Order: sequence, then structure tokens, then C-alpha cells
Amino acid sequence: MPAPQPQSAVLPPTGKFAFYLTLRVKRGTRLGVVRRACAELPALTRQVAAATGERKLFSAVGFGAAAWRRIFGSPPPPGLVPFRKIQDGPRVAPGTQVDLFLHIHSDRHDANFHLARRFLAACGDAVRVFEEMHGFRNLDRRDLTGFIDGTENPSGVKERTEAAIVGAEIPGFAGGSFVSTQRWVHDLPRFEARSVAAQERVIGRSKADSVEMDDAVKPPTAHIARVVIEENGKELQILRQSLPYATTAQQGIFFVAYGRTPANFRKMLTRMIRRDAHGHYDHLMDFTKPVSGCNFFVPSADLLRTLIQRKARPPRRA
Ligand code: HEM
Repeated sequence: MPAPQPQSAVLPPTGKFAFYLTLRVKRGTRLGVVRRACAELPALTRQVAAATGERKLFSAVGFGAAAWRRIFGSPPPPGLVPFRKIQDGPRVAPGTQVDLFLHIHSDRHDANFHLARRFLAACGDAVRVFEEMHGFRNLDRRDLTGFIDGTENPSGVKERTEAAIVGAEIPGFAGGSFVSTQRWVHDLPRFEARSVAAQERVIGRSKADSVEMDDAVKPPTAHIARVVIEENGKELQILRQSLPYATTAQQGIFFVAYGRTPANFRKMLTRMIRRDAHGHYDHLMDFTKPVSGCNFFVPSADLLRTLIQRKARPPRRA
């Protein structure tokens, strides 16, 4: 049997634009409508791609742990839990867990919009939008801090699959992916008030061309010093599919981390926020803060298709 295929948005490099929506499924709702809309998302994506001429239109839908039970009527993959707050002093990553995550990306904002709108129309009044952010590629793939984002993201299908896609280790869930999402709000005036050299010490890379600082001079509080974690001689991996978002009033990044385990993201975020034995934390957190946080599982396209056959029945208790 061929290996289950991931949903289309998970692996390819993010397009120039993305729609990120987190959604609540209303209580007491008839879930058949939501099941059908989710199961038909890949087909709808192909339809909108054909209608708009945007061939590289990609989508994925993810489910929170409680929503998984309600919608699939079976236990979620082991390891999928609601996003729990992490805090140390003024640094807080709040948990704002909701039910569904819709991730769309392509090179066209209009194609993304038409797909998101049609998906929501298919869900009818069964879902409510909790958060909707529109990401865009900024300059030569720079975060709004001005630093190139993605330099060390896994590249190539093999590496990206290895980082993001569940294999045989979780029976029944192969081809799927854990995903954590967070909306971050930057304080750009505060960051930009620092010299370029000081900014580079915050990130751990050069601003112009993303060259890593030598270990001898890279501060232990630099972003990349906090998130690079080695276990058993191997670096923990996540696949980032984030993009900046902005209005003139508020700017930030919608952070999206796909992983074959949810643990890697959590360990990295913990090291960003919590002081270690030396009092070190990620100094990037002095200039930006997360205001939402959710965990989802994005099933393979094959598992998603089975939703259409599932009958409404009360969720089983864990
Ligand atoms: C405001 C939020 C964030 C910003 C602006 C940001 C920005 C950056 C930048 C500029 C880099 C260096 C270039 C690169 O390799 O991509 C980087 C690397 C990285 N970031 Fe973040 N990041 C943010 C949040 C996070 C979070 C929440 C995590 C995980 C919990 C994370 C994990 C990573 C990883 C794994 C790398 C690659 C490190 C390496 O191998 O060198 N980042 N980030």
C-alpha cells in the first residue's frame, strides 16, 4: 500500500502569501457539516486552483485534541494536548486552544481568500473564526525585524518529511503532522532603536546575510542559541511555515511549527521563555511576545478523506 500522503500545505516551501485561521466549532452543532467540509478541503482546493489559475495553491486543516474526539469520534494521536501556558516572569506564552486550524498558502492573496471563504461557507454556521491572519513574504524572506527567516529551516523533501511527518512510530497516524501555532506581536520601534550589532546579538546571526555568529562570540541568550537543542547527538527539528503579518498599527509573525512530534516545539519555546541555571533566556522575547497559542494535528489527506464516511456518534471518553 502506498504511504499516506500529507495534506498539501505541510511540506512545500511557503508561498508569497498565507491565510492562517483558527476556528471554534460551536457547541451543540451538527458535526456532519464540519466533517464534510474538512474531508472535501483537498478537492475544494483543486477547484479553486483551477478557477483562479493558481496551480500552487496549498491547504491543510488541523484539529485540536478535544475537537478530534468530537469530529473523528475516536482518540486523538498520542501526544496531542491543548496548548498549556508557559511563563517565567514577564515572559508569557499564553494558551488559547481552539478546535480547527486552516492553513492556506500560495503566491496569490486572492486565491487564498477565495479558498478560505468557500471553506467557511461549506462549514456554514457550525464554526466561528477565533483568529484570522494574512501573512506575506517580506522582501527577501525577512521577518519584520529585518532578519532573514528560514535559513536553517529543513530544506528538500527528504529533510522536511523527516522533520514534520509522522511515520510508522504512531500507528494509524502516519502521513500526518503535529502543528503548533502562535501569533507574535513585535515591538519594532524598541528593536529598531538598538544598533545593528546589538540586534545581531539578539538573533545570533548577521542582519545583512544571515551568517551565524561564531560560538566564541554568540551570546547564550541569542535566539538561535536557545532554540538549537541537541539530544543524543542530533539537533531537534521542526518545520517552520511562518510568515510576517502587518497593518500600520500592529506587526508581527504568525508562527507555525510542524513536527513529527509536538515535543520539539515545546522544548524550544520553553528554552526561549524560562531562565536556565545561569539566568539566560531568549532576548528576542524582550522585543516580541506571543498573544495566542494552539496545538493541532493535521491528519494525512488519506485519513481526512475517511471523515466523510464517519457517522455522527457521541465521542468516546479517553
Ligand atoms: C517572534 C518570533 C520569532 C522570530 C522573529 C524568529 C526569527 C528567527 C530568525 C531570524 C532565525 C534565524 C534564521 C533561520 O534559521 O531561520 C530563526 C531561527 C530559528 N527559530 Fe525562530 N523566530 C521566532 C520564534 C521562534 C519560535 C517560537 C521557535 C520555536 C519554538 C523558533 C525556532 C527557530 C529555529 C529552530 C531556528 C533555526 C535555528 C538554527 O538551526 O540555527 N523561532 N528564528
